[in-house]
Amino acid sequence: MSGADSKGGARFIAFEGGEGAGKSTQARLLAEALRARGHTVVVTREPGGTPGAEAIRALLLAPPGAPWPPQAEALLFAAARADHVAHLIRPALARGDWVICDRFVDSSRAYQGGAGGLGDDAITALHAFGSGGLRPDRVILLEGDEAALAGRLAARGKAADAIERRSADYHRAVAAAFRTLAEADPHGFARIDALGAPEDVHARILAALGDMLA
Ligand code: TYD
Repeated sequence: MSGADSKGGARFIAFEGGEGAGKSTQARLLAEALRARGHTVVVTREPGGTPGAEAIRALLLAPPGAPWPPQAEALLFAAARADHVAHLIRPALARGDWVICDRFVDSSRAYQGGAGGLGDDAITALHAFGSGGLRPDRVILLEGDEAALAGRLAARGKAADAIERRSADYHRAVAAAFRTLAEADPHGFARIDALGAPEDVHARILAALGDMLA
């Protein structure tokens, strides 16, 4: 998938990037623009998106015991994703809807595989087993200067979860891993400058999806 099983017109777009990059705002703006063009759009997020996956999200972002060992963390993200793909994403694509997902497997590749040190092969194997290797039709990677994004995050004022609280080095490694993934697949990823007014970032995203919107 998604090309193979999805109905004509269905597209699967994932937003990726570090914390504070504005993924949720941009996902919402893209959904509005697509709906204005007459598409049916499902907006969802990871970890989460279904009741089962949201339950796993709570375990991941506030571990009830000692921190999860890296392998357990990767398995939980993959398990949440398997539920989300089976119960929400694949059915929506099969109906012909657009699906916009705030984070998907490339977050696991960057956070657990890259920064967490598990490696890309392990994460890709879990994704093949859990979710049949489903790939987005395009990944919108929102990138920006570290200090500027950190400032936005602070302004958001939300309490940091167990992963956000990790070191600046960890988050730098996440950004580097995303860059490497994007460089290896320039057609699959659109690298978008996340800095500037939300409407300007939105315009860049629409331009990067131009071939799908025609
Ligand atoms: P979320 O509140 O969605 O973060 P943000 O608002 O920054 O997108 O929390 C998700 C956290 O989980 C975030 O720190 C990234 C992390 N994460 C992973 O480590 N691996 C994954 O596969 C996914 C989907 C998220």
